[in-house]
Amino acid sequence: MDRFYITTPIYYVNDKPHIGHAYTTILADVLARYHRLLGVPVHFLTGTDEHGQKVWEAARKAGVSPQEQCDRMVVRFQRLWERLGITHDDFIRTTEPRHTEVVQEILADLHERGEIYRDEYEGWYSVSEERFYTEKELVDGRSPEGKPVEKIRESNWFFRMSRHQQWLVDWIESHPEFIQPEQRRNETLGFLRQPLGDLCISRPKARMPWGIELPFDRDYVCYVWFDALVNYISAIGYRRDEETFRRWWPADMHLIGKDILTTHTVYWPTMLHAMGLEPPRTIFAHGWWLSGGAKMSKSEGNVTDPMEMADRHGVDALRYYLMADMTLGQDAVFTEEAFALRYNADLANDLGNLASRVLRLVERHCDGRVPAPDDAGSGAAEAALREAVAGAVVEMEQRLQAMQLDRGLAAVIGAVRETNRYVDQCAPWSLARSGETARLGTVLYHALEALRIVSGLLHPVMPGRMAELRRALGLAEDEVEPHLDRLRTWGGLEAGRPAAAPPSLFPRIDRRRTAAAGAARGTAKPAGAAKKGGKPAAGTISFRDFSRFVLRTARVLEAARVEGADRLLRLVVDLGDERRQLVAGIAAAYAPEDLVGRTIVVVANLEPATIRGVRSEGMLLAAQHGDTLSVITVAGDVPPGTPVS
Ligand code: MSP
Repeated sequence: MDRFYITTPIYYVNDKPHIGHAYTTILADVLARYHRLLGVPVHFLTGTDEHGQKVWEAARKAGVSPQEQCDRMVVRFQRLWERLGITHDDFIRTTEPRHTEVVQEILADLHERGEIYRDEYEGWYSVSEERFYTEKELVDGRSPEGKPVEKIRESNWFFRMSRHQQWLVDWIESHPEFIQPEQRRNETLGFLRQPLGDLCISRPKARMPWGIELPFDRDYVCYVWFDALVNYISAIGYRRDEETFRRWWPADMHLIGKDILTTHTVYWPTMLHAMGLEPPRTIFAHGWWLSGGAKMSKSEGNVTDPMEMADRHGVDALRYYLMADMTLGQDAVFTEEAFALRYNADLANDLGNLASRVLRLVERHCDGRVPAPDDAGSGAAEAALREAVAGAVVEMEQRLQAMQLDRGLAAVIGAVRETNRYVDQCAPWSLARSGETARLGTVLYHALEALRIVSGLLHPVMPGRMAELRRALGLAEDEVEPHLDRLRTWGGLEAGRPAAAPPSLFPRIDRRRTAAAGAARGTAKPAGAAKKGGKPAAGTISFRDFSRFVLRTARVLEAARVEGADRLLRLVVDLGDERRQLVAGIAAAYAPEDLVGRTIVVVANLEPATIRGVRSEGMLLAAQHGDTLSVITVAGDVPPGTPVS
């Protein structure tokens, strides 16, 4: 690959950004950073979409001019990107002259060449999506996305999109990489099986004046999507700087959410074709972050503030969670509980623990310097470790090409686990005690090398913490930002360089505190199903309320009667990454030994309580019928701590 031009959608400035917006931008940043690590020149563009009805209405509500509304809101995005460590090369605002002038030139040119014409129009308009639907497209009198529509009849300007339909179908069919993942490609092809209409690209100023004026009709402004999509080429100098434009166009990747598939895979390529330009190489549509059973969005009232998450848990932890917990293309559920689980398992337990124990041993037994490996002493265990780490490098590279970032990260964390096992197996603390210095040096050197390579592979996702770790490993300043060739070869650490334990990289999150805080903060409104159906019926709870219960499997390790209480048993259970003590009123139905070894279901985020002087940190589930009581157990082979949903 000779260069990599990647874009995010440009975000509407009618509201402040939430986790969904942060996700796309972080993903683009991670991909940009990986390409830089591969040595590929990168151009990374993001920005804001500042025209159109939504912004206009937000400004009216706030009692300010639309431009003032944009100027106020844009800084929220810019500040967030700075806080999240986003390394974009350019930030475009659609109210900048470098954009508006190019849009007007494109409009004038298309008009002159007969690609734009005037006609009467009648259709169903969705204000929130800013687009028209035909009668046929409506579902139960609403847009296919479930938004309200109103019937509008007016004279407007149209882009002859239908002219380009056959070309687009041929292009999609002959370029399998153009729309990804496959499911979205099929969706677009399905959409194109119907005859494609022409696209209404104007809005009468009398109805909505906040837009770019049509150069050939001053009574109209340009439809916001026809304006916004052009950002991908106006920002890189289309019609202004031929050389820069040729260097970056066609874009390698437009990253979008699946909500804006048609505009990107139908409108945009046909617009480009009419302009005589090539389509982007890939449009990749990721899924949604769901919360309380619905897409996270301002209108559902179920948003999480990324600034707040970053303040509480650190930018890198947030970036890691978002990248590791979403399989690209599918939806994922955002919960603080899942965040804490993922963080504690991968970052605090595996990576953080490995780094701190190895570096502490180096401080203590090697004078805080990278030890020299003793070649004679490196045997099968070292060879296996090297192979595991090299395997992670190869897998990460392949998974990136296939846009399977979560699986690439899993492979890297797998290598971290291997390294922890290697350290356990070689027990360097015993080697230190018995004075086997040469072997100790070999073991610690190998563990440090593994850390050098995995920290390089994780650097694009967690640039802050991984830079700290790489400095602690004794890497020179010019190696803190990794290069792939150096990650492919073993032995990059120089013996004798100072190495020191960094301050705790990933302090554990106390999950019970997080769950309690999440529940106490709650959300502004019930979301999802409960909201759509109006008020929840008496006696029912919303999905959102249900999703606050954290149910997990637990293995019973110990069970005993509670002295002085005939009905109570005290259980110690394994919840995967911790042990808990529970008190349950089941002694009449179970002898303690009946339960040991069984896998039960526990409410894991219940406030602890003290029952008959014994602390209980959760509750087990049981079915009760008259006097018969039966503890819910889990059949099959699931590890303790598995979420139950
Ligand atoms: N302004 C248009 C895009 C124009 S691009 C030429 C727009 N803006 S938006 O502010 O609504 O942002 C939409 C994008 O934000 C989605 O495509 C997606 O990238 C991201 N997300 C918003 N909510 C999201 C989730 N709940 N989950 C994942 N991503 C989401 O549409």
